[in-house]
Amino acid sequence: MTGRLEGKVAIVTGAASGIGKATVALFRQEGATVIAADVTAGEGVLAADAGTEADVVRLVELATGEHGGLDIFFANAGISGGLASIFEQSPEDWQEILRVNLIGPFLAIKHAAPAMKARGGGSIIATASVAGLRAGAGGPAYSASKSGVISLVEVAATQLCGANIRVNAICPGLIETGMTRGIYDMARSSGREDMIGHLNPMKRGGEPVEIAQAALFLASDAASYVNGHALVVDGGLSCSHPHYRQEYGRTSF
Ligand SMILES: NC(=O)c1ccc[n+]([C@@H]2O[C@H](COP(=O)([O-])OP(=O)(O)OC[C@H]3O[C@@H](n4cnc5c(N)ncnc54)[C@H](O)[C@@H]3O)[C@@H](O)[C@H]2O)c1
Repeated sequence: MTGRLEGKVAIVTGAASGIGKATVALFRQEGATVIAADVTAGEGVLAADAGTEADVVRLVELATGEHGGLDIFFANAGISGGLASIFEQSPEDWQEILRVNLIGPFLAIKHAAPAMKARGGGSIIATASVAGLRAGAGGPAYSASKSGVISLVEVAATQLCGANIRVNAICPGLIETGMTRGIYDMARSSGREDMIGHLNPMKRGGEPVEIAQAALFLASDAASYVNGHALVVDGGLSCSHPHYRQEYGRTSF
C-alpha cells in the first residue's frame, strides 16, 4: 500500500541518522512533503536544533509559509548521554539531555499545534523509549527525559481537546542506529553479536524502519482514534518481568 500520507506536510527532527532518516524516507515514499531537520545539516536535511525555540518556530513557519500548512510533526531528535550512573552525571549533563529529549518535544507541540489547528487537525509524535517505562535501558537523565515524554504526550493530548490533533509517543527498544553504534560495534568485535537483543523474545535488535513504520501508523489516518498513547515497539523486551527464557521447541511450552 502506498500514498498513506498523500498531500500531507510533515516535519521530522533528528532526520540525519537512524530512526529519523528512515522515517523521512518512508513518509516521502507514502506521499508526504517532509521537512527534514537535524542539528547536523546534510544533504536534504536542514540545520535546526530541536531544543531551541527559534529553530522549531522556523521549521513550523517553513511548513506553513512554503508548503501551505503542517499535518505531522515527528519530534524524534534525541541524545543518550551514555550509560553513566547518577554519581557520574552533572546538572549540566541533565540540562542538555532534558533540553533536547524533553523540551524539544514540548516545543514541537507548542508550535505545531496552532498550525495544525488552522488546518483542521494533525498528528504529533514524539520518540520516547523503553527507558522511559522502567530502569535498565539508559542513563538516569535519559530515562527521566523519556518518562517525561510519555507524560508530555498524555498532557498534550488532553489539553488539545477538541482540536482534532492527536499526540502520541513511540517507545523503541534496542534499534541499530548512530546512538547504539557503540553497543553493536562492541558486540561484533568481541564475536558476541548473538547477544544483541537476546533479552527480548524476538531475540534480535530492531531496524530503524521498524520504528518508522510505527511513526507512519501514528501519522496516518489508520490511527485516527489513537491519542495520548505510548506505543511500545521493542520486540517484547518490556512485556515481562525478568525470567528464565525457554526456547520454543525445546520444551512443550
Ligand atoms: N536507537 C535506539 O535503540 C533507541 C531506543 C529508544 C529510543 N531511541 C530514540 O530514538 C530517537 C532517534 O535516535 P536514533 O536511535 O535514531 O539515534 P541517531 O543518533 O542515529 O539519530 C539521532 C539524530 O538526532 C540528531 N540530534 C541530536 N541532537 C539534536 C538536536 N538538538 N536537534 C536536532 N537534531 C538532533 C543527531 O544529530 C542524529 O542525527 C532518539 O530520541 C532516541 O532517544 C533510540
